[in-house]
Amino acid sequence: MQQSTEISVPTTARPVATGQIQADADPFLPSPDEANGRSRASVTLSAVKADPEVQALIRNANRNLGAIGYTEHGFRHVGLVANIARNVLKRAGFDPRQQELAAISGYLHDVGNVVSRLDHARTGALLAHQILTRLGADPEDIAVVMGAIGSHEDEGHMGDPVHAVSAALILADKSDVHRSRVRNPEQTAFDQHDRVNYAATSSRLYVDAERKSITLVLQIDTSIAPVMHYFEIFLPRMLMSRRAAEALGYAFHIAINGVEVL
Ligand SMILES: [Fe+2]
Ligand SMILES: [Fe+2]
Repeated sequence: MQQSTEISVPTTARPVATGQIQADADPFLPSPDEANGRSRASVTLSAVKADPEVQALIRNANRNLGAIGYTEHGFRHVGLVANIARNVLKRAGFDPRQQELAAISGYLHDVGNVVSRLDHARTGALLAHQILTRLGADPEDIAVVMGAIGSHEDEGHMGDPVHAVSAALILADKSDVHRSRVRNPEQTAFDQHDRVNYAATSSRLYVDAERKSITLVLQIDTSIAPVMHYFEIFLPRMLMSRRAAEALGYAFHIAINGVEVL
């Protein structure tokens, strides 16, 4: 007689793992984790910042980009992007877990440049996976950070926001246009990116939760670069920012030298 193996099939609904985001949850709304009893991220920005490998990757990525003529992408840039990404979600009413994941995504988003500028978003997402796994992060949190980093690129294929943390990272990264990012010591040798960045003396992102509007407020010294150059160079970034704001349910505006231009 043939032997049969009994397979037990659970008759009850599959239990949802702690922290798991249900498939039908809106990825651009605060996550349901508070309801599941986990309102904090499994790893903190402080732990990521203190990691020697993270520091080495950021330092070398920034140095490599400097060698091929790019503006500053080091601790200043990623620290600022981490703070802005966190604040975007804070102001927009997202829970502490998503705020922390936005900050972590901001801090790690450019580590892929240590490998190559080309596809640095994809490489960075994979590096972040390895780092956060080592730091003991929950797989759900790692997955969110990977999606955010992998979708932030504005060269070649423009990234689209895939969830709220991703939208916050795009808004934060694309708003960092500032004089202090220029490394070229010779103004006469500036390229277009240097000139526009050097002309930007102030850059701030405002989130108005009541009016549902996000505004990038820039001061541009037009004796260095006309405002038009800003749009010529940064149009893809502006489009990405608008899509990111809209994904969060916000309108996106730009004000330059006190005049709303978008
Ligand atoms: Fe980047
Ligand atoms: Fe960046």
